[in-house]
Amino acid sequence: MEHNSVVITEEDKKYMRRAIELAKLGTGAVNPNPLVGAVIVKDGRIIGEGYHRKYGELHAERDAIAHLTEDAEGADMYVTLEPCCHYGKQPPCALAVIEHKIKRVFVGSDDPNKLVSGGGYKLLRDAGIEVITHVLKDECDGINDVFFHYIVNKTPYVVMKYAMTMDGKIATREGYSKWITGETARNHVQEQRNALSGIMAGIGTVLKDDPMLTCRIPGGRTPVRIICDTHGRIPVDSNIVKSADTVRTIIAVSDKWIDTSDGQEKANKLNDMGAEILAVPENDGHIDLKALMTELGALQIDGILLEGGGTLNESALKAGVVNEVDAYIAPKIFGGAGHSPVDGEGVSLPDEAYRFRLAKTEQYGEDVLLIYKKL
Ligand SMILES: NC(=O)c1ccc[n+]([C@@H]2O[C@H](COP(=O)([O-])OP(=O)(O)OC[C@H]3O[C@@H](n4cnc5c(N)ncnc54)[C@H](OP(=O)(O)O)[C@@H]3O)[C@@H](O)[C@H]2O)c1
Repeated sequence: MEHNSVVITEEDKKYMRRAIELAKLGTGAVNPNPLVGAVIVKDGRIIGEGYHRKYGELHAERDAIAHLTEDAEGADMYVTLEPCCHYGKQPPCALAVIEHKIKRVFVGSDDPNKLVSGGGYKLLRDAGIEVITHVLKDECDGINDVFFHYIVNKTPYVVMKYAMTMDGKIATREGYSKWITGETARNHVQEQRNALSGIMAGIGTVLKDDPMLTCRIPGGRTPVRIICDTHGRIPVDSNIVKSADTVRTIIAVSDKWIDTSDGQEKANKLNDMGAEILAVPENDGHIDLKALMTELGALQIDGILLEGGGTLNESALKAGVVNEVDAYIAPKIFGGAGHSPVDGEGVSLPDEAYRFRLAKTEQYGEDVLLIYKKL
């Protein structure tokens, strides 16, 4: 339990909000590291600002120090995450804070990374620096769901995303889903694709829609595309395979299927076209999603946008790998036998439901986005 000896003022919150804004500028570029922003303040003026810009580059505290407009002796630092105290790709940030004789450090989130976890605070306090923790903690924690999950579990943070009508359909009775939501909501999905390092779909969606699953924001980052395709049914002339030589693509298949002669032949063909084949064990006749998540975590894929459809979504819920559900709802009704975001048999009793908590609601044009997080 941390004890703060100072009262946090509106000014302090203002500087921490600025640090949060800066942290978000690293979106899509820092994975599997956290988003972190820092602001250095002296005599009521900002004298240095920085953020973690790119994986492997300066951490926020050192970036803010590198941008100082004057000496930081006696200044306050506002940083969204506990400064690190270990040698990784960069030397410990806490040391830079000490060297520059910063007097007080205001921190938002604690770092659950076992290599840090309280060690950053200790290093600063042992050097006589006053550390004020949990300043706008919820807001600071909110920008790093992916990092907090990945650093502890070593598996990706999975966001199940779907666009549905008011009557809960993600496709018409003929299986058509273009488009359910309007352009503003679809643009927001592009931002999510930029933010997460992986994107996943089932082979059913590939066969029906022939999607690209790329990020179309100019200068944005396309996540690694992962297709769940137990028996390698993906057509070699699909958009995914045709673009696999330029966009990293993983086809997750069954380890039994890949040992067959058909499997070997198709896997070689897909490999030649630039796709990576990831063989995982089967569970219930499909690839085992838990095992797949462990493999993807080992490949440093820290977050996944799961873009269904309903068959894969149901399996992901059953496997317990879904951390967040982002449901876009359009002001339309398809009715009848349209597809649901989650297929399968469903539960028998309301008490057996998969449970989430509503974390946020947002509006994009005429559509709403409900963000639910795992309980
Ligand atoms: N509105 C939206 O947001 C949205 C988003 C996506 C899709 N859609 C719509 O959804 C429809 C496609 O949905 P779908 O349910 O037919 O297909 P899907 O969920 O995309 O793919 C299902 C297939 O994935 C494969 N798979 C591999 N591992 C699996 C696992 N562990 N669990 C379950 N399946 C696994 C299975 O085939 P194998 O076992 O042979 O591999 C299965 O048949 C399309 O009409 C598409 O337009 C809508």
